[in-house]
Amino acid sequence: MKFFAVLAFCVVGAIAGPLSSDEAALVKSSWDQVKHNEVDILYAVFKAYPDIQAKFPQFVGKDLDSIKDGREFATHATRIVSFLSEVVTLSGNESNLAAVHTLVTKLGKDHKARGVTKSQFTNFRTALVSYLSSHVSWGENVAAAWNHALDNTMAIAFKQLDD
Ligand code: HEM
Ligand SMILES: *[C@@H]1O[C@H](CO)[C@@H](O)[C@H](O)[C@H]1NC(C)=O
Repeated sequence: MKFFAVLAFCVVGAIAGPLSSDEAALVKSSWDQVKHNEVDILYAVFKAYPDIQAKFPQFVGKDLDSIKDGREFATHATRIVSFLSEVVTLSGNESNLAAVHTLVTKLGKDHKARGVTKSQFTNFRTALVSYLSSHVSWGENVAAAWNHALDNTMAIAFKQLDD
């Protein structure tokens, strides 16, 4: 099983390649500027893509502005943002790449089981990048580093998800 995870990573790596240390540092330093804006980030995702909100049994059909200050919203926002923080932290050390692969594969499997699609993950990515671009010091180099990081992450998750 371990062997398979590492092998699968190498296949992904052959397409995109791991981040350079400069890219990893840019992703980390920009993420540090927003990683405590959990509710704000989930709000931005739901606002841009209501079909993502609709997949949550606890939020479906509810008015976004009325749920965003609630405890359930904060709890879930923290789960998602902590997951991203963990991936960003691990990705700064090449020795942890197999661990990142395992985590993101599990995320993909768990979300497939909930009927979440590749295109919803892509939309999540779009909303996240849009949030970052207006809340961190942004520029071509930061954008390119995030693109590379998200290409890698999405490639792993997509293996588990349907269209
Ligand atoms: C893009 C569409 C997505 C949808 C529709 C979606 C939906 C869901 C749902 C319905 C749950 C269960 C919530 C609960 O039972 O309280 C969940 C859990 C979770 N989601 Fe997502 N999610 C999406 C993307 C993501 C992404 C991109 C990440 C990470 C960056 C993520 C991270 C998590 C985590 C960490 C959990 C809690 C652990 C788990 O139950 O798997 N989600 N998601
Ligand atoms: C990188 O990760 C490995 C394995 O988890 C660990 O032993 C090592 O100390 C880490 N290196 C740095 C610079 O954090």
